[in-house]
Amino acid sequence: MPTARLLPGTPVAEHILTDVAAGVTALHATGTTPGLATILVGDDDASAGYIRIKQRQATELGFTSPHVHLPATATQADLHHAIADFNTAPDVHGLLIQHPIPAHLDYDRALQTMDPDLDVDGMHPLNMGRLALGLPGPLPCTPAGIEALLAFHDIPVAGRDVVILGRGATLGRPLALLLTQKRPTANAAVTVVHTGVPDWATHTRRADILIAAAGVPGIIRPEHVRPGAVVIGGGVRYAGRRLLPDVDESCADVAGAITPRVGGVGPTTVAMLFRNALDAARRATGHQSPAEQRNAQ
Ligand SMILES: NC(=O)c1ccc[n+]([C@@H]2O[C@H](COP(=O)([O-])OP(=O)(O)OC[C@H]3O[C@@H](n4cnc5c(N)ncnc54)[C@H](OP(=O)(O)O)[C@@H]3O)[C@@H](O)[C@H]2O)c1
Repeated sequence: MPTARLLPGTPVAEHILTDVAAGVTALHATGTTPGLATILVGDDDASAGYIRIKQRQATELGFTSPHVHLPATATQADLHHAIADFNTAPDVHGLLIQHPIPAHLDYDRALQTMDPDLDVDGMHPLNMGRLALGLPGPLPCTPAGIEALLAFHDIPVAGRDVVILGRGATLGRPLALLLTQKRPTANAAVTVVHTGVPDWATHTRRADILIAAAGVPGIIRPEHVRPGAVVIGGGVRYAGRRLLPDVDESCADVAGAITPRVGGVGPTTVAMLFRNALDAARRATGHQSPAEQRNAQ
């Protein structure tokens, strides 16, 4: 019988997007319309669908959303040209390359040609460096979404024992950097475990907050969870359209609070993309975000 309190991500995303919409309106009043550009390469239906949703949402929030669609036969140079054009477009403040891109192209190399200030995914090496140093810049969306989800649901993080399963570049590693920052919604004692730690369960079993970031379906089972702990499911794998989460559903019998199987971390990730785009436009036009204003005081 599941006893855990559910921690849905949808109200968190709605809260973030309401805030973003207000921020965009405030920018409009100063004469700036923030621009979030997108690049799609190839004919993958799912990717085209994701881009359409993001463009629609961008428009609803008050961003312009210039878009370039390159054919599946595009070369690495074609992709770099498209990025270079957006890098210098005065009305573009954020840029998203929908991934995955076709296998003959190198995403990491392409990302490195992007102006890091436009990188709304927060994955450019310079932005990872900014994150490590605590400097302002776009934050990786899923880690930032998880921090926002914990804060929204009033889960205390500061001073608590957080264990992350997975040290990947998208999730586990940047999340550890984020949750160890000296801020009220972070400031945790973070342990990161991975395949190099065969007895990782001894760590997860003492965690106040356990975050799954492995991408191994069902890897987190009730015996890996301290009774009453908070469990956040970040890692997922897809089998076709079926979502296979890292956290086995039966963990809800042991955890004190847990993200739902669907509608947990995912919606917060997308919301953070728009938060990054707004913050990028604010920085480019000399307007600080409220968080940066507070930090500067
Ligand atoms: N919900 C969302 O919106 C969202 C967004 C982005 C990503 N994700 C998901 O987050 C997950 C992580 O992505 P990523 O790119 O950061 O990670 P990644 O590069 O795929 O790395 C996975 C990590 O998990 C560890 N791991 C895998 N199997 C393990 C095992 N059996 N025991 C212990 N550790 C194990 C790996 O250890 P080693 O380093 O030792 O190999 C690695 O550190 C993926 O499932 C991805 O789909 C979700």
